[in-house]
Amino acid sequence: MKPTPHIGATNETIAKTVLLPGDPLRAKYIAERHLTGAVQFNAVRNMLGYTGTYQGKPVSVMGSGMGIPSIGIYSYELIHFYGVQRLIRVGSCGSFQSDLKIRDIVVGLSASTNSNYASQFALPGTYAPSASWRLLRLAVEVAERKGIDVKVGNILSSDIFYDDNKDAWKQWANMGVLAVEMEAAALYMNAARAGVDALCILTVSDSLVTHEATTAEERQSSFNQMVEIALELA
Ligand code: HPA
Repeated sequence: MKPTPHIGATNETIAKTVLLPGDPLRAKYIAERHLTGAVQFNAVRNMLGYTGTYQGKPVSVMGSGMGIPSIGIYSYELIHFYGVQRLIRVGSCGSFQSDLKIRDIVVGLSASTNSNYASQFALPGTYAPSASWRLLRLAVEVAERKGIDVKVGNILSSDIFYDDNKDAWKQWANMGVLAVEMEAAALYMNAARAGVDALCILTVSDSLVTHEATTAEERQSSFNQMVEIALELA
C-alpha cells in the first residue's frame, strides 16, 4: 500500500472504522484514553492518526481538520485508498435552537450546507446529504442503553465561521436545523458516493441563541460521552 498525498500509512494499519475529530490532538487524546495498544499511522501535516482496539475490535482515530475541503480530502483517501467502511465524525457545534443547550449531544440525521461541494456530482437537482441509517440507529440505541440523551436532526455544515451576515443562521433555525458545524455534509456525500457508512455526532460547544459557550472542562466530559457512543459503532 502506497502513502496518499495526505496520509503516510504504507500498510494495512488503518481499521475499517475510523473516528474523525476535527482536532488532531483530540485524535491523540482518544487513542491514549479510549484505545488499547494504539499505534500512530499518520503525522503528515501533523494530522495525527492512530489504530488500536476498543473492546477487542480494531478502531482508528484521525484528525479531519476544519471545514469541508479538509474532511473531504481525508475521508476520500481513507475510503478509496485504505478501504475504510465506517467514518464517524466526533465534533462540536453551535446551537441554533433555544431548547438545544450547551453540552447536549446531537446526531446529524442530515446535513444542509451552503457549500458547493455537491456540484462535482452534477446532479439534476439539490442533494440531501444524510447519515447512514445503520450507524444512526445503532448510535441512538447505544445512547439509550447508556442513558445518554441525544437529539437527532438536520444540522448545517457551513463554509463560514465568521459570517458577514450575523443573522443568516436564523433562516436555517426557522427550518428546524438544530446546529452548525463545518464538515458533515462532505463526509456524508463522500460516503454516499462510495457506498460506505458515515455518521456525525456532535456536542454543543456554544449557542448562537444565548451566546453561552462551554468551558474546556465541560467540553471534555460531554466529549467523552460522545466518543463512548462512537466507539460502540466499530
Ligand atoms: N460555527 C461553526 N462551527 C462550529 C460552531 C459555530 O458556531 N461551534 C462549533 N463548531
